[in-house]
Amino acid sequence: MKKRIGILTGGGDVPPLNALIASAAETARAAGVELVGFIKGWQGILEENYVELAEWPLRAGIGGTILKSSRVGLGSEDSGRERALRVLDKLGIEGLIVVGGEDTLSNAFLLGGYRQVLIAKTIDNDVGKMDARENEKTAEFDLQNVLNYFTLGFPTAAEKIISFVSLEEGLRTTAYSHERIIIVESMGMHAGWLALAAGLGHPDFIIIPEFPLNYEKFLEAVIAGYRRQRHLIVVVAEGAKWADGSFIRAEEDHGPSYGHPRFGGAAEALRIRLKEDLAPHFDTRNINVVNPSYLYRSGAPNALDRAWAERLGCKAVEMLFGPGTGPALLTVQMRRGEFEVGEYPLSGFTSVAELHRFVDDRFYDPENLRITETGQKYLKEIANEFIPEKEYGLHE
Ligand code: F6P
Repeated sequence: MKKRIGILTGGGDVPPLNALIASAAETARAAGVELVGFIKGWQGILEENYVELAEWPLRAGIGGTILKSSRVGLGSEDSGRERALRVLDKLGIEGLIVVGGEDTLSNAFLLGGYRQVLIAKTIDNDVGKMDARENEKTAEFDLQNVLNYFTLGFPTAAEKIISFVSLEEGLRTTAYSHERIIIVESMGMHAGWLALAAGLGHPDFIIIPEFPLNYEKFLEAVIAGYRRQRHLIVVVAEGAKWADGSFIRAEEDHGPSYGHPRFGGAAEALRIRLKEDLAPHFDTRNINVVNPSYLYRSGAPNALDRAWAERLGCKAVEMLFGPGTGPALLTVQMRRGEFEVGEYPLSGFTSVAELHRFVDDRFYDPENLRITETGQKYLKEIANEFIPEKEYGLHE
């Protein structure tokens, strides 16, 4: 009988998922292995809802996931875990490729020693470690010490936000022409990597969840900045916080969302507050909000995302041919200036929460609400920078 393995995609979709699935399917087919795709992540296992991927038309260049996605997990009850193991056993599936963010991946640990290869995908870029070998932390940030250089989906989303705010392709020109203050909202629930990436397009201020906003100081900087250049671009991550630690805007929503609050609206909340507080100083009619929202996650993957999704998909299938138990993480590493695939054993882990990474002050300057040189150095390996132009009043 043919060997059978499975794959699922959970959590927020990202553009390179179909590239990963197509590459895994091709690798399995070439090796004479059957690849079963579960529909809507872990939900597909619980409901025994699956397809034989060899029979499906797969288009690597199309975004989203042909297998669909959900934020449904196995639940904390034993019944979910037992049901999943029963279904996998019944279908003769000997190993599973789990593609997701922190929550989707953490569900893999509920299956104990069952063989799984995990691949991190999220436009939030928050699964990995910036200092893989803590003891080798150097004063000069070492790109080779990053565990999982980027999560799938981040390169495409980063490229988008950089272009959205840039002079060459984005909002800077209309901001200048109409003397607008434009507040651009970025996705990013708890980690500000995507908002930080906008730094390569040179917005004036970036506000991220890791550094609660000192609003009074920010207001002063906005007044001074607007006096100087008569337009401003502000980027705010959806999960950004006020100084007291409360979210600028979030709705509690414990629906099928792994129990997270639902974000969206931080830029608008900031606009309302700024409009009121700037009124004594300026004409405030042109304070605008742009929230690209799901556009960050939609459409085709860029070249970097697609290439690495394909490599990881292929490698994941190969790993399931070999020996091993429990979940292991596949990563993208930087070695001698080039990216390569890495394997990270997860024995001893009970979730991927330990790999939840955040922006720190090596990458972000909280005084000036800007990306640092180290942040630029890290991100320039993933995305192109637009060169700032002085005549548009950018940066002294
Ligand atoms: O986790 C990835 C992410 O893109 C977050 O940045 C965002 O808060 C969330 O997904 C929103 O997704 P959805 O509306 O699908 O729950």
